[in-house]
Amino acid sequence: MDLYNRIYEKLEKAGQLHLLSTYDGLGDEAKASLLQQLDAVDFDLMGKLYEKASAASTTEVTPAFNEIEPLPYLDTTKMTDAEKVALSRVGLASIGKGELAVLTMAGGQGTRLGHDGPKGTYSIQLPGDESLFEIQCKGIDAVAKRAGYQPHWYIMTSTINHGDTVAFFEAKNYFGYPKEKIHFFPQTMIPAVTEDGKLQLASESELLRSPNGNGGMFISLANCGLLDVMKAHGAKYLFVCGIDNCLVKMADPMFLGALLTDEKQPQATAKSYIKRDPGEKAGIFCRRDGRPGVLEYTEIPTLYAEMKNDNGEWTYGDTNVLNYIFTLDAVERLAALGTEYHIAVKKLTYLDPETKQEITVPKGYKFELFLFDTFLYLDDLQVVRIERTEEFAPVKNPTGIDSAESAREMYLEFERTNPRKWEEQI
Ligand code: UTP
Repeated sequence: MDLYNRIYEKLEKAGQLHLLSTYDGLGDEAKASLLQQLDAVDFDLMGKLYEKASAASTTEVTPAFNEIEPLPYLDTTKMTDAEKVALSRVGLASIGKGELAVLTMAGGQGTRLGHDGPKGTYSIQLPGDESLFEIQCKGIDAVAKRAGYQPHWYIMTSTINHGDTVAFFEAKNYFGYPKEKIHFFPQTMIPAVTEDGKLQLASESELLRSPNGNGGMFISLANCGLLDVMKAHGAKYLFVCGIDNCLVKMADPMFLGALLTDEKQPQATAKSYIKRDPGEKAGIFCRRDGRPGVLEYTEIPTLYAEMKNDNGEWTYGDTNVLNYIFTLDAVERLAALGTEYHIAVKKLTYLDPETKQEITVPKGYKFELFLFDTFLYLDDLQVVRIERTEEFAPVKNPTGIDSAESAREMYLEFERTNPRKWEEQI
């Protein structure tokens, strides 16, 4: 049976034949591309995800845990300069030996920001007009100069923004960083589904898909062969961050030093800051049912959200910054394991199979893997508490909270006060 007939049968069985409604009018190349995209779809999985999504709005949400406990943390905000310098020297020595690889997750769609192009190309209007990518590159290079080694930088894109991302780096001459040390890889995509359970076309020859969440990083990295490349370069640790925190300390030697000097030899370390108030819309670190993890703000009962310890601090106050270092062994193991997709109810734009016109519906389902769900599989996770004002200025929205404006203010304030003057002693 040829590919077309095989796919026709597959779609008929799944009730998705409308996905071939544009097929006959396509050229040969577009036909082949569409068939290839449809061939890659796991319709059983999509059926199960749709069932879960449609049930979620009608059934009670089950509690996210039976038992929680706080996770111990290393509080760098209370350390002396000498202690921070000592940790940083350990990290820097490892970076100097080429043991740290750096990875930026830049595959998101940045829907809230609404910027026309990959989020990393966005400028928060600093005096030098640097893009988020350039800010990160400068951060890596500053550490590289101290370490005497320029780490390899891996950038996760999606099939939607891959071409524009690579073209941007090319146009900017890779910000002066060695081109052969920057590696781009698109993450896995997963179809979105309309409320009636149908997959849709984004254009006449393209299936409507979205990036499969930041938790797709491990498997995407392994599948494209770059995990092997990392190992071949001698990396032992992987620094991971998002693209949209303009104060992120790229390749932070102190962070790596914290992991390397932890007697418990955890497989990963994660940065946290103390939440501003109990209702802050952010996930917090904890041990849930005996395993390290993150509880979303929607999953924390008020009792726990407001609980304080004997020192008057929030018991569950360590907020997830989306900045981690994993041992490469852990990355390899996590890439081989699966976690469950989360459902995001989002606006969808697609080609109406009847009219062949683009339409937008307010409610459809996208599916995402969350990186922090993998913590469950770690024996131990170190939490490193940092000062929010020094390291966390996210760019999520065009205005207001976590916007370009608030991030720019924090960035300029950081530059003005230079709270990391102690780094000169490293
Ligand atoms: P967010 O969850 O804030 O998503 O991503 P986003 O795409 O930037 O913005 P919205 O929600 O659509 O407005 C946090 C980080 O994870 C990356 C993003 O690029 C960002 O650096 N990410 C997110 C991925 O790399 N892939 C994904 O599938 C999702």
